[in-house]
Amino acid sequence: MLPPPTCAGARAGAMEANPSVLATVGVGDLVLLDPLSEESLLSNLRERFLHKEIYTYIGNVVISVNPYRQLPIYSAEMVEQYCNGNFYAMKPHIYAIAEDAYSSLRDRNRDQCILITGESGAGKTEASKLVMSYVAAVCSKGADVTKVKEQLLQSNPVLEAFGNAKTIRNNNSSRFGKYMDVEFDFKGEPLGGLISNYLLEKSRVVWHVKNERNFHIFYQLLAGASDPLLKRLKLQRDCRHHGYLGDENPRLPGMDDATNFQAVQDAMRIIGFSEAEVMQLLEVTAVVLKLGDLQLSGQFQASGMDACGIQNIQGWMGRHPRIGLIGLQESILEQALCSRTVEAKQEKVVTALSVAQGYFGRDALAKNIYSRLFDWLVTRINESIQVTAGERRKVMGVLDIYGFEIFQDNSFEQFIINYCNEKLQQIFILMTLKEEQEEYFREGIKWTPVTFFDNSIICDLIESGGILVLLDEECLRPGTVSAATFLAKLDQAFGSHEHYESRKSQSDRHITDTSLPSTCFRVHHYAGKVTYNATGFIEKNTDRLYRGLAQAMWQAKHTLLRSLFPDGDPKKASLKMPPTAGFQFKASINTLMKNLYSKNPNYIRCIKPNENQAPGQFTDELVRSQVRYLGLLENVRVRRAGYAYRQPYQPCLERYRLLSTHTWPRWTGTLFNLEERRRRRVEELATVIQKTYRGWRCRTQYQLMRKSQILISAWFRGHAQKKRYQHMKRAALLIQTYARGWKVRRAPGQPVPTPALGQSRPLPQASVAHACARGDSCEFRPSLVRGGALPLLPPVLHSPFSLSPKLQKFFLGLKNNLPPLTVSDRSWPPAPYRFLTNANQELKTIFYHWKCKKYRDQLSLEKRAAMQTKLCASELFKGKKTRYGPSVPEPFQGDYVGLQKNPKYQKLQAAARGKLVLADTVRKVNQANGKVRPCRLHTPIPELPGVLAVPAQDADGTWCLLPQQTGTGGAKGDVLLVSDHVIEVVTRVHQVLLETTQQALNLQIADQ
Ligand SMILES: Nc1ncnc2c1ncn2[C@@H]1O[C@H](COP(=O)(O)OP(=O)(O)OP(=O)(O)O)[C@@H](O)[C@H]1O
Ligand SMILES: [Mg+2]
Repeated sequence: MLPPPTCAGARAGAMEANPSVLATVGVGDLVLLDPLSEESLLSNLRERFLHKEIYTYIGNVVISVNPYRQLPIYSAEMVEQYCNGNFYAMKPHIYAIAEDAYSSLRDRNRDQCILITGESGAGKTEASKLVMSYVAAVCSKGADVTKVKEQLLQSNPVLEAFGNAKTIRNNNSSRFGKYMDVEFDFKGEPLGGLISNYLLEKSRVVWHVKNERNFHIFYQLLAGASDPLLKRLKLQRDCRHHGYLGDENPRLPGMDDATNFQAVQDAMRIIGFSEAEVMQLLEVTAVVLKLGDLQLSGQFQASGMDACGIQNIQGWMGRHPRIGLIGLQESILEQALCSRTVEAKQEKVVTALSVAQGYFGRDALAKNIYSRLFDWLVTRINESIQVTAGERRKVMGVLDIYGFEIFQDNSFEQFIINYCNEKLQQIFILMTLKEEQEEYFREGIKWTPVTFFDNSIICDLIESGGILVLLDEECLRPGTVSAATFLAKLDQAFGSHEHYESRKSQSDRHITDTSLPSTCFRVHHYAGKVTYNATGFIEKNTDRLYRGLAQAMWQAKHTLLRSLFPDGDPKKASLKMPPTAGFQFKASINTLMKNLYSKNPNYIRCIKPNENQAPGQFTDELVRSQVRYLGLLENVRVRRAGYAYRQPYQPCLERYRLLSTHTWPRWTGTLFNLEERRRRRVEELATVIQKTYRGWRCRTQYQLMRKSQILISAWFRGHAQKKRYQHMKRAALLIQTYARGWKVRRAPGQPVPTPALGQSRPLPQASVAHACARGDSCEFRPSLVRGGALPLLPPVLHSPFSLSPKLQKFFLGLKNNLPPLTVSDRSWPPAPYRFLTNANQELKTIFYHWKCKKYRDQLSLEKRAAMQTKLCASELFKGKKTRYGPSVPEPFQGDYVGLQKNPKYQKLQAAARGKLVLADTVRKVNQANGKVRPCRLHTPIPELPGVLAVPAQDADGTWCLLPQQTGTGGAKGDVLLVSDHVIEVVTRVHQVLLETTQQALNLQIADQ
């Protein structure tokens, strides 16, 4: 296999390789060969081949001679040069035709197909890979595109492992036909693809000639699988243990099966196979090998009829359905292999099979499993690479089909393969030789006809009413059919056909040819005469699997294996005969031909230089025969005599009418000039389009930015104004509040609405903050908004953002760290954020007020009265009397003489009738001499109307003040009293007076 074009090792060589057409050997394009003859054509090819120039053109058809060695012409640099170069300025190369096809697809919107033909081993598969890798290298490199490209490229190693094998002609011979449609979008980027496969040579699974191999995958599996995997698949590493692999040395020079196995597994993963799918695929592959290991032996039957049984199942099937490689009971397989059940009129007749019949069934089963597995593989790859989007796509089809082959013993498979090659040759003839000449005739152009061999006659011999049709008739005919009856039918129909030969037709023509056995017929193909052995044609064409075998496989628990045999489902059993292999192949080839006709063809004609797969060997006779049957000389003649470049009128007009009036309606210059002008014009137009588009884009962008800017500034200004307005409103409210409060307080005769002790003005924020401080959920309450409280709240509390975690954290933190409830403690935690300073201050005040209220609430009535008295004292004396300060901590006792306890005051107490306010010892000052003595007072204090001073009973100067309901007027002059509790005395007198007369005591307080 060739290394990818990016291979660094090839770089040095690529430097030597000069792709310029000037450095070419011989003639690069055979159209320029002079003189033109078969001999000169051959020697030109030889000379070029020996100078490692393996590619030669005939116009835009590439002839590729297999070098059988690595040439330094597939490097990344070469890809680059052919990507940027001109088709005719560069040496002939497969990259040039790939570039031509790809650029035509991309720029001219024409679907392309690349037809690669040649006999087995001529290099078709390698050429197709080169085309694919070139296209992958030149199209863009985005991540999506790279994935698609990788998947498309990696389908090759997988399909080659399962569909290629070593034959005597080619170590990597394709044993199936492959047509791959690569789909591109309008930019020329690959989107995906679709692979169609054509008839796999499945007979190879059970048998191959000496010196050939079975399909690569079997050898790769045995060489590359780890020991545990082999154990799981119940396989032996040595190929000789497996019946279908033969006894020869399976090693191939230059092919490492173990490495290739790894590459195949990696490729499957890249394509998108799951691990389970890969494992199931390997398990089914192992089952095919294991079937080849089954030994059948004859068994005795009482009826004397032949019977057989499986000799060595070796445990890989299992006695229980869940055991074994595929979850199928041994007995079910044995019954399916060794007997056949025929249903007749609702009766089932079971017939035992002979050993030979048993082996036939076993092989048929193995072939069927493998070919169905191969079809599944292609379907699975298609699932991964298929394009799903419905956009219009351009398609490049690459056809790599099995090459024409002639073996010692040619069977049905070779017949099919060669028929396919006939059809491809027919396409080539039709499109390059026949149609062109017919066009010149039609258009009345002077033309000397070039004769060529038209192989339609051979195609007809095979398809329409030909060998394949007769074969189908023979297969479907009731009665005994055999190779002999089939041959007789052929003789009868084509005995006189010039491309058909058999013993019978020869004897009719009085020819004796011992090289043609009686069981064979010969077809004169375009590429040579091939003798086909008619034996096996009927069976291979019918391709029928005993229903019992399909049903047995359907019973397997193995998901993949079971899915390969839907016809084994008894519910879906159909008595209808399935179409024959030949019929199916013919139909699919006809579809392929239609597909190819609808596309612009590009030809790569591969030539095999020798039969030994040896580098540098050019066998004249071998190449000469290929040159002949490929019709290369005729191709050169037509190319030479015809126009170098042809294009239908309408597309030409469409393409060039954008040019100036100088080119319209006639153009006398060369086509290249025209093309060059068009290229320049396209560039100009592209610039105009770009300019217009960029201008439009910038304008749109600008308009958008402008609109956005206006919108943002409008919102911003609106917001700023709203904020300002709210500020002003708040300020106005505040001023109003103060002004109104001030006014109300100043109004004459109105009591000052001072809040009661412990009741501050109920601020809305207080309630909110308070709630938050309590740890209640702090939420935005519409009632606050309706109540007009909102503007008074700190801005952060206005909005629903008050739920912000910061606030919540702050409030919850406060809740947990409230200062002590002692009234004298005024501590309060600081605000964690600046925006909370005001709220925090407010909270501090609220908390303090609340604390005070709590304190007040728990006071007893007496204590409360005492406190009120103290408060009153403070109002009267605070700042006016020096003695007041020290007196504050001393509690007012009221009764300093023990009025309650002393029996001598009982009378006085009775007189007070519980209204005693104060009992104390005072000293009366004699105003005349200034002497102080305890005294007894009889008269009421004149300044206290309604208050009677009641003298004490004893003469030690004790006196009491009692409130009187009715006062007795009459002034007796000032009384000068000295008391140790003057503050209390005066305060109580003041209180009593206020309570009884609602008049304050007229006091003059002095420190002397
Ligand atoms: N361009 C090339 N450079 C180097 N070696 C090549 C080239 N083309 C083909 N070969 C060699 O020739 C071998 C056969 O080529 P390839 O498998 O492409 O033949 P084919 O025409 O596909 O045959 P078949 O019809 O049997 O599939 C390759 O394995 C490779 O070794
Ligand atoms: Mg091939």
